[in-house]
Amino acid sequence: MILLVGNWKMAPNKSTEAINLAKKISLSAKTYKKSINTVICAPYIHLPFLIKNIKTGISFGGQNTASSEDVAQTGFINSSMLKSYGATYCIVGHSEVRAHGETDEQILASTVSLLQKNIIPIVCVGEKERDGHGWYLSSVKEQVEKIFLGVPKNQIKKIVLAYEPVWAIGKNAAREATVAESREMIMFIRKVIADITDEKTAKNTNILYGGSVNEQNAFNFISEGGAQGLLVGRVSLDAKRFSSLMKSISLSQ
Ligand code: PGA
Repeated sequence: MILLVGNWKMAPNKSTEAINLAKKISLSAKTYKKSINTVICAPYIHLPFLIKNIKTGISFGGQNTASSEDVAQTGFINSSMLKSYGATYCIVGHSEVRAHGETDEQILASTVSLLQKNIIPIVCVGEKERDGHGWYLSSVKEQVEKIFLGVPKNQIKKIVLAYEPVWAIGKNAAREATVAESREMIMFIRKVIADITDEKTAKNTNILYGGSVNEQNAFNFISEGGAQGLLVGRVSLDAKRFSSLMKSISLSQ
């Protein structure tokens, strides 16, 4: 089963637009439900409307959660709030949030709080840039270790990781990652997980690829890139393109 996660980021502006878009995505998701599990991570403000209006085809998730339930965190929301609205997934550690100063410690605490509420964390890891000496490997290693060493052992198998090279994300991406780059990095991440846990856990960890995924390159990231799923930004805001992407990856199963 492929896990396909749409990250709507800070769009669309109105809940009515969000509902219309999600309805279209839900129709396609139902067509491919045998091979694809579709999740939409929407802006918090739309989540209650989406979850109330769309009951089939897709699951919904948040885009971040506070690292503690301490009330004095203006502008944040916590895992209990996500749970109470029926969110079943939540992205944590996205590079656009890390860019505002979120630390690995906070990302770990958010991951643990989601697991406590039975919400599946989609933890993003990835290097800012690649250097010729392979130093970027150690930055990703540190991010992965922080999570896998910190989460209670009996919860580890619930974690979803998303490998997102920061240089390949969004409209300012330097370039797309190649399938070989994705495959090598996902192999490396599994090795890091195996060293902390065991080979079986490493093999079974759900690792997604994200960063400029579109309807043309999606199939290869799944069939040859080592990813068991995808985290898709821009293309998930276009129902037609997202549907073509689903069609293409369904053929890889
Ligand atoms: P993109 O975003 O697909 O628009 O590059 C991916 C992400 O930020 O998760």
